Amino acid sequence: MKWPLQKALYRTAHMITKPLVKLIKVPVPELITGAGSVTQLPPLIQKHGVGRVLLVTDQGITRLGLADGLVKALEEIGIGCSVFDGVQPNPTIENIEAGVAAYQHNRCDGIIAFGGGSPMDCAKMVGARVSNPGKSVMQMRGAFKIPKALPPLFAVPTTAGTGSECTVAAVVSDPQAQEKFAVTSLKIVPRYAVLDPELMLGLPPHITASTGMDALTHAIEAYIGRFGTPFTDENAEKAVKIIFQDLEAVYLDGSDLERRNNLAQASYFAGLAFTRALIGYVHAIAHNLGGMYGVPHGLANAIVLPHILDFSRADCEHKLARLAVVGGLGEAKEPAADLAMRFIEKIRDMNRNMDIPTSVAQLQEKDIPHLAQRALKEGNPDYPVPTLMNQQQCEALLRKLLPSVENPAG
Ligand SMILES: NC(=O)c1ccc[n+]([C@@H]2O[C@H](COP(=O)([O-])OP(=O)(O)OC[C@H]3O[C@@H](n4cnc5c(N)ncnc54)[C@H](O)[C@@H]3O)[C@@H](O)[C@H]2O)c1
Ligand SMILES: [Fe+2]
Repeated sequence: MKWPLQKALYRTAHMITKPLVKLIKVPVPELITGAGSVTQLPPLIQKHGVGRVLLVTDQGITRLGLADGLVKALEEIGIGCSVFDGVQPNPTIENIEAGVAAYQHNRCDGIIAFGGGSPMDCAKMVGARVSNPGKSVMQMRGAFKIPKALPPLFAVPTTAGTGSECTVAAVVSDPQAQEKFAVTSLKIVPRYAVLDPELMLGLPPHITASTGMDALTHAIEAYIGRFGTPFTDENAEKAVKIIFQDLEAVYLDGSDLERRNNLAQASYFAGLAFTRALIGYVHAIAHNLGGMYGVPHGLANAIVLPHILDFSRADCEHKLARLAVVGGLGEAKEPAADLAMRFIEKIRDMNRNMDIPTSVAQLQEKDIPHLAQRALKEGNPDYPVPTLMNQQQCEALLRKLLPSVENPAG
């Protein structure tokens, strides 16, 4: 099919879906916030009548002993807690099944998702599987395929980050197919989310940087896409403002509790925005770089983001200009074109200042056609992007990420 016709079909699909997406009432988790707020979780879990929780986390977190205080506090008030720390970064179906076995073996009746996006997404899927034993993870792939509600799910993010504590999504990796896919359902939004910046104080600078850029990408993609609403715009703006203000400072000084707190909030705001207004090609490409090479999600987003903004700028200049003003880069009376350019330059500066490379070390020319095909299969027509992209354009963009073309000026 010729590209102009294909584009018209995609835009028709967006026009049909937009009002439907707006009608969906996405639940919002109840929030517990502030330094030390994780201590409020055990009595809350008790209130829900849960006798034994499965705490889903990863080994990096258990090595740091980050959840030790919570486990002790739960046991002190008589709630059993089994720790499952078998989650890999970019969690796999195998990780989920191991979590399901741990849940059943220990006869749990509630779940704590404790960690970054990987443990949170794995915990969501463990919950979905134990409530729906007849359905495999693969059968739940895609949208709205989880029939029964999950056991009580309490999310404690330790990165600021994915926003998974308030989103309808869980991202799962299939290492055999070298693929990442999403499970989307209103049922996997956690009931409670604890935003405790004390848990984030030990996050190393490079993870602070990449997870922060993931949150920034959520806010920007939600904002420039075509499904935005006043609610998602407001949350995206709040997220951009905070991340511009605080991320680089926290990269340099991870012990700044106040700024850590701000970033935890920003990640949550960005999550509220993108779970309703959706994401775009930055994520479509990043998911496939993650699936094929295991590139960490936030890092892939950070590298791809300025390129997609260059590509889409003409169709979202006014929105980028507004974000530039919100982010303190200029004044509304300045020409939109200048502000939009400054906004994209700011992202390149942030990447440079936080030692984020301009290329993907593992990327190979021979993989580019396949990667582009997969990214576009994910994005078209599901993501309501400002500028539609075809195979040739996506391949050209990916070529800019080859290690050989890396240049320090980005
Ligand atoms: N569900 C959603 O809505 C959504 C949105 C975006 C991304 N994701 C997914 O989330 C995953 C990425 O999550 P992530 O970026 O948060 O990383 P992650 O959960 O994979 O964690 C990365 C590393 O950081 C370590 N870590 C986490 N918290 C720490 C802390 N406080 N101190 C020290 N180390 C800590 C972990 O041990 C791990 O080694 C990807 O699979 C991505 O696709 C999901
Ligand atoms: Fe993301």
